[in-house]
Amino acid sequence: MTEPAPVDAFADIPAHFRREAPQDAHQRRRHQAVLSLLRELPPGRVLDYGFGWGDIAWAAAKTHPDIHAVDVEQRRVDFARQQYAPIPFDQCRPDGLDFPDASFDIVLSIVVLPFVPDDEAYMADIRRVLRPGGHLIVATKTSPFLSRIWRQVSGQRERDRHPSPGIRHHDASDTADLLRRHRFEILRRRAFYDPPFEARQNPVDLVNGVFAAVGEPLGLVATAPYPLFLARKGG
Ligand SMILES: C[S@@+](CC[C@H](N)C(=O)[O-])C[C@H]1O[C@@H](n2cnc3c(N)ncnc32)[C@H](O)[C@@H]1O
Repeated sequence: MTEPAPVDAFADIPAHFRREAPQDAHQRRRHQAVLSLLRELPPGRVLDYGFGWGDIAWAAAKTHPDIHAVDVEQRRVDFARQQYAPIPFDQCRPDGLDFPDASFDIVLSIVVLPFVPDDEAYMADIRRVLRPGGHLIVATKTSPFLSRIWRQVSGQRERDRHPSPGIRHHDASDTADLLRRHRFEILRRRAFYDPPFEARQNPVDLVNGVFAAVGEPLGLVATAPYPLFLARKGG
């Protein structure tokens, strides 16, 4: 009798998150933007806080091999351990880290802020685990350009808006304010984009896509859906 084929417990996870699989267009842009900032930094102990499926930690380990990654979801930990061993992947609490103070030189926080229960507590814990002068690369997500313009006209702040349950958008200025409140010095401001015209579903999406497409070559960070910062922990 032949053995039944093993069930792939992660069959629903998009193939591009697997080791050595070709990247999708969004993932390629996200990696390029984050890794170009990381490569500017000297070697050191890195924490990927909210690692997703583990692909950025794995890519980051090529230049910064002393990396530890944590995420709140156990299933993501299981997948990342299967795909990207021997990088250490562990589950963290939703409301903080158990690492000692000043135990990392660099923290990566890539599109995690929209999901955390408390921005201030999350940033305070990043500051706590960074050594003095340590670096933070943080990306967040904002809403499409046209809706942001409309909210600015109507005087609403991005961070006060709840686009869908459990997700909070932050525009670049919200994120810069958050960093400054936690005494981070902003060294670089960047952004990354969804591929223009991909998955655009209606005329408004199309116009937003055009803003993103022309904003990128012109360096108009404000048009981008994913603000990105390199910051240094100040005293
Ligand atoms: C949009 S994904 C980004 C993943 C990864 N950083 C990347 O760029 O591919 C957001 C991640 O944040 C994690 N997350 C959400 N809330 C968290 C929390 N309170 N602490 C740590 N991770 C959290 C989610 O489980 C998810 O993996």
